[in-house]
Amino acid sequence: MGMPLELESIKKIYAGYSNIYDALFKRFFYPRIKHAITYMDIKPGDRVLDVGVGTGLSLSEFPHNCKVVGIDLSTAMLRKAKDKIRSHRLNHIKVMSMDAMRMSFKDDSFDKVFISHVVTVVPDPYRLMSEVRRVCKKGGQVVIVNHFKSSNKVVEIVEKLINPVCKKIGWRSDLCLNEFINRSGLNVRQKYMLKKLDFWHILFATNEK
Ligand SMILES: C[S@@+](CC[C@H](N)C(=O)[O-])C[C@H]1O[C@@H](n2cnc3c(N)ncnc32)[C@H](O)[C@@H]1O
Repeated sequence: MGMPLELESIKKIYAGYSNIYDALFKRFFYPRIKHAITYMDIKPGDRVLDVGVGTGLSLSEFPHNCKVVGIDLSTAMLRKAKDKIRSHRLNHIKVMSMDAMRMSFKDDSFDKVFISHVVTVVPDPYRLMSEVRRVCKKGGQVVIVNHFKSSNKVVEIVEKLINPVCKKIGWRSDLCLNEFINRSGLNVRQKYMLKKLDFWHILFATNEK
């Protein structure tokens, strides 16, 4: 059986981004990725999963004494991540192609899961989160960096209006943070933005099973 059409189209969009992704997005995404990983409580020997690792903007931030696995749907994006692993000799990191909504890992495989700019990219964020909770150990840490719908009514209307365009270019702009937290089943311990007016939230959560 082939890949569902929606996944094929996401794969195509990100293959198109792969050569220009860092130049386009690094300046916006990297500061929050760096911040979130710095404040993750990664311990020596921890097994860490990076879901939708993309071109690997996060990879240089993981301490060398843990083991990291990055997965992504797009082999073109992964090629860029592999280049970074090779050139920075990140021997504690492996990346592989996999659908995050149907992971092939066993239950309770990871101590920590990092998910940046992915929950509004996959077709079903709740299917994604149920897989994340399955492969993360009980009491493990799940850290999410993502844009969520604004609580400002005017911005919310604009985000709703531009959602069809956003979907064409690879993400949705209308995911509600509170609904996401309630339905994902995570115990969110901290949620904040790096600046007062920012587009992206950072969530630190515990995987209670
Ligand atoms: C906006 S990029 C984020 C990449 C990286 N995490 C970052 O913050 O720069 C979204 C990534 O999610 C990947 N992706 C989309 N759907 C996926 C799925 N079902 N399974 C795994 N990866 C997926 C895309 O291929 C893309 O690399």
